[in-house]
Amino acid sequence: MSAADTTGEVRTTGGTATAGAAATAGATAAPALRAEGLRRTFGAFVAVDDVAITLRPGRVTALIGPNGAGKSTVINLLAGTLIPTAGQVRIADVRVEGLRAEEVALRGLARTFQTPKLYEGMTVLDMVMLARDRFGRASFLEIALSLPRTRRDRQASRAAAMAHLERVGLGHQADRLATSLPVGSQRLVDVARALASEPDVLLLDEPAAGLDHTETHELTDLIRAIAGEGLAVLLVEHDMRMVMSVADDVVVLDRGRLLAGGTPEEVAANPAVIEAYLGTVAA
Ligand SMILES: Nc1ncnc2c1ncn2[C@@H]1O[C@H](COP(=O)(O)OP(=O)(O)OP(=O)(O)O)[C@@H](O)[C@H]1O
Ligand SMILES: [Mg+2]
Repeated sequence: MSAADTTGEVRTTGGTATAGAAATAGATAAPALRAEGLRRTFGAFVAVDDVAITLRPGRVTALIGPNGAGKSTVINLLAGTLIPTAGQVRIADVRVEGLRAEEVALRGLARTFQTPKLYEGMTVLDMVMLARDRFGRASFLEIALSLPRTRRDRQASRAAAMAHLERVGLGHQADRLATSLPVGSQRLVDVARALASEPDVLLLDEPAAGLDHTETHELTDLIRAIAGEGLAVLLVEHDMRMVMSVADDVVVLDRGRLLAGGTPEEVAANPAVIEAYLGTVAA
């Protein structure tokens, strides 16, 4: 398969039985996100070069590659955290490259961070409730005066945030300071925060880093369930066992360029991938 074909749109039978139907349907669904010709330079250094990625509703696309390959930079480019030097990003066919991250988020994209950005002094629940702010109906004046609609908004926001925390297995940690949690749990708070914005497109940057075996397994199930609900998911992940079990499609990045793409099985058997990526992991 050529690099030009390495988008997340290859039909596959990957995934669990329950999510499989949604994933198969998603293979032909209109893209939730499509990026083409993505390039980003830092001075003379080319971090991302001519990358194309298509994410479809109901499908999990894994983005893998060695350290420094440009995976987080791709997420930053898709999410509006970084502006591309060249290339296009469309969400539901509307161009978004050049928009600020907050504006991209309003168009239905949520992302987690490889290093979660949690605020000092805020509880786990507060962090997730932040993502619910845009659903509030109270006006600035109503909020300032703490009028009933403000309180109702807050109760609804709290209930929704708790439900998302329960989903990532952190309901019992809701009142702890977010920054006091182990880093693996902090990443799960970030996942709950991203889910709480009720996105159509979810970008996860190494969400399993720092989790133990059981937690990783639970996160794998959660990601499949999320895709089963129709979200388009991009998963950056080093754990190949997790990638093999959760991804419908895999895109491989090496030194900023697409190296290969296809089903997890195709990619795992690709000699160029084994040399560039799996070989370095085994070493
Ligand atoms: N703001 C920046 N300024 C300069 N160079 C940068 C910047 N951000 C990323 N880079 C460089 O771009 C390259 C790709 O970085 P990136 O963080 O995207 O890699 P990655 O694939 O996510 O790696 P990892 O698996 O270690 O998280 C690296 O060489 C990195 O040093
Ligand atoms: Mg990274």
